[in-house]
Amino acid sequence: MKVSADLHREFTVARIDDRLYSAFIEHMGRAIYEGIYEPGHPSADEHGFRGDVLQYVKDLKIPAIRYPGGNFVSAYDWKDGIGLKEDRPVRLDLAWRSKETNQVGINEFGIWAEKAGIDMMLAMNLGTAGIKEAREYVEYVTHPGGTTWSDLRRSHGQETPWDVNMWCLGNEMDGPWQVGHKEAKEYGRLADETGKAVRGLNPNAELIVCGSSNDAMPTYPDWERGVLEECYDTVDYISLHKYFGNSSNDTLNFFGKIEETGRYIQAIAGVIDFVQAKKRSKKKVGICFDEWNVWYHIRGQDEKNWKSWDWPEAPHLLEEDYNFEDALFVAGLLNEFIRRSDRVRIAAIAQLVNVIAPIRTLAGGAAWRTTIYWPYQMASLYGRGIALNVAVDGPTYNCEVSQDVRYMDISAVHNDGEGMVTVFIVNRHLTEEAELDMRLTGFDGATLAMHQVMQGHDLQATNMPDAPDRVAMQKGEGVGVEDGRLKGKLAPLSYHVVRLK
Ligand code: AHR
Repeated sequence: MKVSADLHREFTVARIDDRLYSAFIEHMGRAIYEGIYEPGHPSADEHGFRGDVLQYVKDLKIPAIRYPGGNFVSAYDWKDGIGLKEDRPVRLDLAWRSKETNQVGINEFGIWAEKAGIDMMLAMNLGTAGIKEAREYVEYVTHPGGTTWSDLRRSHGQETPWDVNMWCLGNEMDGPWQVGHKEAKEYGRLADETGKAVRGLNPNAELIVCGSSNDAMPTYPDWERGVLEECYDTVDYISLHKYFGNSSNDTLNFFGKIEETGRYIQAIAGVIDFVQAKKRSKKKVGICFDEWNVWYHIRGQDEKNWKSWDWPEAPHLLEEDYNFEDALFVAGLLNEFIRRSDRVRIAAIAQLVNVIAPIRTLAGGAAWRTTIYWPYQMASLYGRGIALNVAVDGPTYNCEVSQDVRYMDISAVHNDGEGMVTVFIVNRHLTEEAELDMRLTGFDGATLAMHQVMQGHDLQATNMPDAPDRVAMQKGEGVGVEDGRLKGKLAPLSYHVVRLK
């Protein structure tokens, strides 16, 4: 298969917001307990945080993390997670039929996030709670002192306020499964009033309002229009969520879901533009794709389990064994986010540890990186700067969910600060090698600085504790720059990260 492409320094999409590579972690399953927090683990620090997990997290250079949910947040009382640990209540978590011990709350999580070098993006409960709880929360977390809530935080040993600027106004409020599910207008009004209260405390706060839970919801995309009509002037971002699977074992159709996601982004961008025009507003609300990932391998089994189990504490839940195919998918989805970084300003992989995660752990034992860790890390490390609009000419295919899907999936980022260009490439062809010829314009004298690949694995190959690095990035070969062109032969079903200086 021959593929030609053009990469031009001046053909830009947008300057990427670093928060495109954010993550999400929820109080569910073993994400927090036995995930990031396990007092008594050989690597645990004085706070009970696992050092092995923390190191893998640090290596991802995650800019921001959404916490504490998810469905969990819609019946969560943040006050349960403050004060002396031994006095904290044990609650039943309605979202996942689990027991919540509240041994980790906002102050513990803040310490962890600070150690990991990550900004917090806090979700508030707009299911069972409302404006009052939200404003008390913001005051407890961010006000320096001299008020009831800020002094309470100080009395809990956290003298300095947390530097939190991003607030999610609830979670998936369109979903009938959500505790406190609402209609669009009802939710839009609540989000607007809650947002105004948050702004009263912090005029610079960035507010994220809930879009649809996914693009298959019966109320999509009317939900977004209805919500934004109520709160457009107050909020800064609208959230998108989407999870993916290949239950029909059709790899090309699975990859075609990335194009489908492009249409989802485009549709919501259109709704934003519509409401903006209707409001005669100068402001452009951004997209915050704050839950995305592959989630299907054990989904059915899990759903059966959690609907009937007897309120376990930190149960095994959504512990997907990701394979090589999933890693190629994640690489492609991140390419799509880069290509649409003009509208998608923030995105968060869901989730981070154990629950649909790039990092897994054994209680009391090892931590390891799943296959999807690698494309996420590559994008986070090298995908910062200006997204370039790569023109690609090559063969395409049709599948159930999309038409004219390119076998060759490419995105590129110019890091003008470092003087580097990174090209992310997935050859999605099942059997054919790609002969790539990419013209480079405006990058005179560019030479190859790095080429890493993921290739040659069975699509079903996974990383497990006894073979933790089976599927990982390796040094690549067969790609080079000649006469101002990036050329190379790329194996079928392969992922490449090529850096030019
Ligand atoms: O990430 C798992 C769940 O998926 C979240 O709790 C919810 O927001 C979404 O439906």
